[in-house]
Amino acid sequence: MENPTETEVLGPQDVARAAQLLRAGELVAMPTETVYGLAGDARNPESVAAIFAAKGRPAHNPLIVHLDSLDAAERFAALPAPAHKLAQAFWPGALTLVAPLRHGHGLAQAVTAGLPTVALRVPAHPLARALLAEFGGPVAAPSANPSGRISPTTAAHVMAGLAGRIAAVLDGGPCPVGVESTILGFEDETPVLLREGGISAERIATVLGDAPRAHSGAGISAPGQMLSHYAPSAQVRLDVSTPRDDEIWIGFGPDCADAALSLSPSGNLEEAATTLFATLHQADAMGRPIAIAPVPRSGIGAAINDRLRRAAAPRD
Ligand code: TXA
Ligand code: MG
Repeated sequence: MENPTETEVLGPQDVARAAQLLRAGELVAMPTETVYGLAGDARNPESVAAIFAAKGRPAHNPLIVHLDSLDAAERFAALPAPAHKLAQAFWPGALTLVAPLRHGHGLAQAVTAGLPTVALRVPAHPLARALLAEFGGPVAAPSANPSGRISPTTAAHVMAGLAGRIAAVLDGGPCPVGVESTILGFEDETPVLLREGGISAERIATVLGDAPRAHSGAGISAPGQMLSHYAPSAQVRLDVSTPRDDEIWIGFGPDCADAALSLSPSGNLEEAATTLFATLHQADAMGRPIAIAPVPRSGIGAAINDRLRRAAAPRD
């Protein structure tokens, strides 16, 4: 690295310091209810370039812009009617909406990777909300991990991946939801599911009347959904009920009492989402191949299975 910096570890009392760093164009990892985000001023091209550089992220993969309210979101994008309804139901929370940029939005062009749309989210975590309020502007924040690796759900995960590459991490403890936000785009006014996440398709259907359409690859662009992602260094096998002797077995539910680690000993999907990335980080540190028990696909189980499939996918 050209300019090694000492990464400051900040606490809840240091929100003003974190906001000051953002105003100075620096990067600060912030806790959200889903995963830690690598925050930078979304209007500052240098901050946005620094986010891509710190993560080693391909430039074609756009960032989510975090805001403190639906009113603020409407200044940046024209939300279609169903987006408005979903924002009212789920913001602040683990939902990201992709909508056409408004003229004069003022965001750095690299945030959207040159697309005519922008991904917007109002996070619920109290420290993220405090930082957004104190900063008073749009914050670009991808997950705070090196590109392609396991997402961070603690400040220690952030430090393990990015220490020396970012100005600070705001430590808010473990993230309660544990998987990233659900991303919805709109084709005309029809909601299209671009990424499964913290708000399940079932919950979205209770608001819209119908489940969002699955993304077909046609129509709207969903860059950045790489098949290999969230990847530990070790090899990963899925849906394993009988692990090999050399494998670290990650269980789910009471049938996996012999497992070295468990996503949820009682078989609770919300708990499994919360523990997912920390368990993968932990298993990876044990330096052996990883085998993971089957996890049901209902509710937030869809997002868990999506992340597991990418963690197990062949690498380049
Ligand atoms: O929960 C989350 O969403 C976390 C926290 C920090 O908020 N953030 C997160 O960001 O997961 P990231 O960068 O890891 O994932 C952002 C995703 C990428 O898959 C990207 O391609 C997609 O959002 N995205 C961003 N802008 C888009 C756009 N205009 N159209 C389609 N997809 C977009
Ligand atoms: Mg990510």
